[in-house]
Amino acid sequence: MKKILITGGAGFIGSHVVRLFVNKYPDYHIINLDKLTYAGNLANLQDIEQAENYTFVKGDICDFELVCGLFSRYKIDGVIHLAAESHVDRSIKDPFTFARTNVIGTLSLLQAARLAWEADEKGYEGKRFYHISTDEVYGALEMGNEFFTEQTKYDPHSPYSASKASSDHFVRAFHDTYGMPTIVTNCSNNYGPYQFPEKLIPLFINNIRNRRPLPVYGKGENVRDWLYVEDHARAIDLIFHKGKVAETYNIGGHNEWRNIDLIRVIVRTCDRLLGNAEGASDDLITFVKDRAGHDLRYAIDASKLQRELGWEPSLQFEEGIERTIRWYLDNEEWLNNITSGDYERYYDEMYRGR
Ligand code: NAD
Ligand code: TYD
Repeated sequence: MKKILITGGAGFIGSHVVRLFVNKYPDYHIINLDKLTYAGNLANLQDIEQAENYTFVKGDICDFELVCGLFSRYKIDGVIHLAAESHVDRSIKDPFTFARTNVIGTLSLLQAARLAWEADEKGYEGKRFYHISTDEVYGALEMGNEFFTEQTKYDPHSPYSASKASSDHFVRAFHDTYGMPTIVTNCSNNYGPYQFPEKLIPLFINNIRNRRPLPVYGKGENVRDWLYVEDHARAIDLIFHKGKVAETYNIGGHNEWRNIDLIRVIVRTCDRLLGNAEGASDDLITFVKDRAGHDLRYAIDASKLQRELGWEPSLQFEEGIERTIRWYLDNEEWLNNITSGDYERYYDEMYRGR
């Protein structure tokens, strides 16, 4: 029986990974450690919370004693580490929180894993520390045909990506220094159900249904490479089981969209699904001041993952975006609950005067 600690399992990607592992591996024990920040929500996991092979622990990855306690109590042999502060705009306002959670939190997990595994009679045998990272650590690409590969030099620009880059370096250092069996993956932008509506796609769907302005940063010319979240979760499952220790794998959908083109698809699809006349929400599109240090383009070369482990995205974007928009419109209660309280205050602060 494997005992796997998944961190950040109540967040967007983490909840899809927890669900996949709990359902697919009844003989594994999945321990989900999550602080339940504004981005963590147990409603994301309602369908599996009673499963026998699942335990939820509310706690902070920076709490070293708590994390050490989990390793000794549950005899953890695998870690899938997703807990993080993840929103670039928040990192611009409050970089310290990002350094704390993303850097110190990752170090706390690494050190707890090291102490537990080095004390184990089998040492690092059968153990694995899998760190989930982002393509944003590679910096920004110009328009054109260049892609991020696993060899691309790190060049982070935002406090978020700088903190993720730093955590990636710590993970690799634990392999090189202590021989810990680590893996790092760098994935492109995810979309799908259960994403907190501060990120582009759910924010815009929520604003369209509430007839609020859609704040397009700059001219909307920045490009992102979008991957459906369940395809990312499948890649994580494959790499956790079959990936080579000490390797890095890039994960991406080969699905680049200019923000403004994507936004027009979202507006058109929302209007159709809401039964509005075509073009009814076009007037909500509002060009606002650009994000500071806004990376122009991200695009992933995921050919190593395809070549070595046979992974490729399963969903066409047209189907994925329609499914996603439908999900948010059908789950109004989830959206209403998550956007009440703190989020409303954050929304006012973030977009007032922009
Ligand atoms: P998210 O913000 O939706 O969820 C983060 C989760 O971590 C939340 O449940 C939150 O409560 C928890 N958390 C935050 N601080 C914590 C702490 N100190 N201790 C314990 N739990 C804490 O994030 P996401 O979009 O699901 O991203 C998950 C991971 O994937 C992150 O590491 C992120 O950098 C990475 N990633 C995200 C994307 C994307 O497009 N969303 C793309 C590539 C990589
Ligand atoms: P986001 O979802 O925040 O992801 P990331 O910054 O990690 O790529 O943003 C995706 C793109 O959309 C990015 O280029 C910034 C842009 N954007 C807007 O134009 N308006 C918004 O309100 C938000 C949140 C993002």
